[in-house]
Amino acid sequence: MKNEQLIIFDTTLRDGEQSPGAAMTKEEKVRIARQLERLGVNVIEAGFAAASPGDFDAIHAVAEVVKESTVCSLARANEKDIRRAGEAIKPAKMGRIHTFIATSPIHMVNKLRMTPDQVLERAVDAVKWALEYTDDVEFSAEDAVRSDMDFLIKVFDAVIEAGAKTINVPDTVGYSIPALWGERMQQLISQVKDANKVIWSTHCHNDLGMAVANSLAAVMAGARQVECTINGLGERAGNASLEEIVMAVRTRKDVFKLETSIDTNQIVPTSKLVSTITGYPVQPNKAVVGANAFAHESGIHQDGVLKHRETYEIMRAEDVGWGANKLTLGKLSGRNAFRSRLTELGIELEGEEAINSAFARFKELADKKSEIFDEDLHALVSDEFVSDTTEYFRLSYLQVCSQTGEVPHAVITVLDRGVEKRAEAYGGGPVDAAFKAIESIVKSEAELLLYSVNNITSGTDAQGEVTVRLAKGGRIVNGQGADTDIVVASVKAYLNGLNKLCSKSERAHPQV
Ligand code: KIV
Ligand code: ZN
Repeated sequence: MKNEQLIIFDTTLRDGEQSPGAAMTKEEKVRIARQLERLGVNVIEAGFAAASPGDFDAIHAVAEVVKESTVCSLARANEKDIRRAGEAIKPAKMGRIHTFIATSPIHMVNKLRMTPDQVLERAVDAVKWALEYTDDVEFSAEDAVRSDMDFLIKVFDAVIEAGAKTINVPDTVGYSIPALWGERMQQLISQVKDANKVIWSTHCHNDLGMAVANSLAAVMAGARQVECTINGLGERAGNASLEEIVMAVRTRKDVFKLETSIDTNQIVPTSKLVSTITGYPVQPNKAVVGANAFAHESGIHQDGVLKHRETYEIMRAEDVGWGANKLTLGKLSGRNAFRSRLTELGIELEGEEAINSAFARFKELADKKSEIFDEDLHALVSDEFVSDTTEYFRLSYLQVCSQTGEVPHAVITVLDRGVEKRAEAYGGGPVDAAFKAIESIVKSEAELLLYSVNNITSGTDAQGEVTVRLAKGGRIVNGQGADTDIVVASVKAYLNGLNKLCSKSERAHPQV
C-alpha cells in the first residue's frame, strides 16, 4: 500500500521574510520561488499582499512563473486584505488564500479588541470572501496554542462549514512542547465536526527550540500539512525548518509512514540560495544543511564511517545535495555558456544590459579564481538583483594597509549619488578602517548590529560572502557583498546595507 502524502507548505518568503532585515525584492522572491518549485514544495506562501505594493507585485510575479507548486498569499481576516490577496494570486495555475485571525484571549482582548463572537463571525466572513477568488482557502487560528479548546473547535467547525479546505493550527509564540502539541492536534481532529473533510496543518515557531519536534508530534497525531521555512528562517527564533522535517519523515519512514514530494538533492542548493539572498548564514552545526552536518572529526567516528558508513551516519550527504557543488564554468567559458548556466539555475536577468554587466563581472571573477561554481554564480548575480534597490553609494576605489606593527589604514573613494568622494581612516583592522572611512562620507549614523563572513565555496581563492546588519530609526536591513578579497566584500556589503537604509520602504506587518 502506498504511503500517504505529507504536504510541505513553505513560508520562507512570508514568515521567513519577517526576520529582521530579511525583506526581499520581487526579483529575489522569484528566484527563491523557482528554486522552491524545483525542490518540490507543494505550497509556496509568497508573501502578505496587503503589506505594501512591493509585496503585492512580488506575489503576483511568483504566481506568474510558478507552475508546479500552489502559490499562496497571506491575508488578515478583513475584506481589504483578502481582496488584495485574491488579486495577487490571480495569475497562478494553482492559487491559495491563507487567512487568519487570532483566537486566544490575550490576542483578542489586547490586540484585536474584539469579542469571541466577533472573531467567530469575522473568521467565517473571511473564508467566504476568499472563496470568491479560489476554492483553495486555508484558515489559521493565530496563537492557537494559547486559545481555549472549546472556542477553537467552535471556530474550526464554522470555517469548515463556510468552505475552508485547510485548517492550520499555529504555535505562534513557540510555547508548546511535543506531547501537548500532539495531544492538541489529536483532540481537534477527533472533536471538530467535519474534521475528515479538511487537511490539518501545523505551524510552529522555535522560541524554545522545539518547532520541528512539535511539528512532527502534530504529524504523528494526524496533521498532513507542515508549514516550515528553509534554514528555519523566521520571526524571532524562527520557524520549523523544512530540511529537518523532510529528512526526519524520510529517514524515519518506519515511524511516520508518509511520503513528501521533495527532491532532497535540492535541499542544500536551496539552503545556500536563501542564505545568500537573505544574508542569514547557516550555523555550522545546523542539522542537514550546516557545514559540519556530515563532518566526522573524532578518530573513532572516522574509522567507523570508513569501515561501514552507517555506524555513524543515518543519512547520506549526497542525498541532501552536499557535493552537488558543481564546477560550472572557467576563464574560457563564453557568454552563451554563462547565459545557459544561469537559465539552468532558474536565474533570469532582465535585459541585455544586465546580462552584459553580470558577464563582465563573471570574467573579472574568472581571472581571480580559476574554477567557478554554481554558488559563485548565485552570489555574482545577486549584485544585479540588489541593484533594484536604488544605488546611492557605490565603491569606486579602495586601498587598505594592514601590516604587523602598524595601525590599519584605509583610503576609499565612493560615488555618492554620482559624485566622487574620498576619505581615509585608521581602524582596529582593515575592515574597521574602511567602514570608518565610509561613514565619514555617508554620515548615516547607522548602528552595525552584525558583521559576518562566510566562504561561498572551499579553498583560499574562494569568494568571501559578507553580511552586515544595520539599524537606524527602527528599520533593520541586511547588506551583502561577495568578492575574493574579503575587505572588498565587506565594503560592498556595507554600502549595500546603506543603500537599502536610504531606500524608503514601508511595509505593514501582518501580526501587528
Ligand atoms: O505564527 C503564526 O501564527 C502565523 C500565522 C499568520 C499563521 O504566522
Ligand atoms: Zn508564524
